[in-house]
Amino acid sequence: MKIFAAPLQGFTDYVWRNAHRMVYGDCIWRYYSPFMRLEKGNFRKRDLRDISRDNNAEDVKLVPQVLACASADAVKIVAKIVEMGYEEVDVNLGCPFPPVTRKHQGAGMLPYVDEVADLFKALATMTGVRYSVKMRLGMESADEWTGILPLLDILCPAHVSVHPRTARQQYGGEIDYKQFAKFYSLSKWPVVYNGDVRSADDVTRVESSFPGLHGIMIGRGLLMEPGLSLNDYSIEMKKRFYDHLFSGYSKIYDEHQLVLKMHAFWEYFMSGEDRKLRKKILKSRNLSDYEVAVKAFWMAMGAI
Ligand SMILES: Cc1cc2nc3c(=O)[nH]c(=O)nc-3n(C[C@H](O)[C@H](O)[C@H](O)COP(=O)(O)O)c2cc1C
Repeated sequence: MKIFAAPLQGFTDYVWRNAHRMVYGDCIWRYYSPFMRLEKGNFRKRDLRDISRDNNAEDVKLVPQVLACASADAVKIVAKIVEMGYEEVDVNLGCPFPPVTRKHQGAGMLPYVDEVADLFKALATMTGVRYSVKMRLGMESADEWTGILPLLDILCPAHVSVHPRTARQQYGGEIDYKQFAKFYSLSKWPVVYNGDVRSADDVTRVESSFPGLHGIMIGRGLLMEPGLSLNDYSIEMKKRFYDHLFSGYSKIYDEHQLVLKMHAFWEYFMSGEDRKLRKKILKSRNLSDYEVAVKAFWMAMGAI
């Protein structure tokens, strides 16, 4: 089964992807960048830095993502991505954040099939690029995908990843396997499952429920257990992964930003382990407190 690393804004940036590839090897079929969008008509510097070829290790198979938005903006972003050396772009029709969806962007575009059709038509005119689509079942209702499915023929995507929730549900609540199964059986485009995969058993369960899947995309599961797709939970690997990540971020951020960045990382990383020691890490106020707390954690885990 092909495993895809989901994009997670604020987490799966180039430092995370490079560290993951370096330590866990070739276990991820494709890594996706967090979505790119324009701010007042301009590219965000951090988006460009994140996909720049100079920053991404050559063996990281990266697909940049564009947030579904007005056609002219999307075309501008895709042209830039192609200019930067990529041949595949993922189109995000899944982002559930109200400031985004209110503007009919991300999952907020799903109920507006005419807008989706316009976007797909504009993207389809571009040469030298293939697309994949990442979507939810709907914005408000879990059957809105039925309006989108026929439109995929305009884009001829390499695959469609589906997170079987509505945007209203954000990232919690019941996954709607029934609607996903309908999408899966009706789609003529390869389908990738995405949602709540947290263990190798989950991978097996999804694979056996949907044997024709093109792949499984994992987001938060990989933040918690970076070796999940290899079924490798060894503490040594986790420590190596952590060391690469910390050293990568140390080169980019000042001390204050670095601690904040690492706090976000520890919200997920090894979240099933010693609660007290993890809490100390998350509560640390400066870099030296942080490093003391992390050292205590690794010692308790037997990693040092
Ligand atoms: C903090 C956070 C940031 C995310 N950023 C993106 C993003 O930039 N693009 C995107 O398509 N999905 C984004 N997602 C959604 C994930 O890619 C994924 O679809 C979702 O987390 C469900 O998969 P999981 O249960 O394996 O985590 C984000 C999710 C979270 C929690």
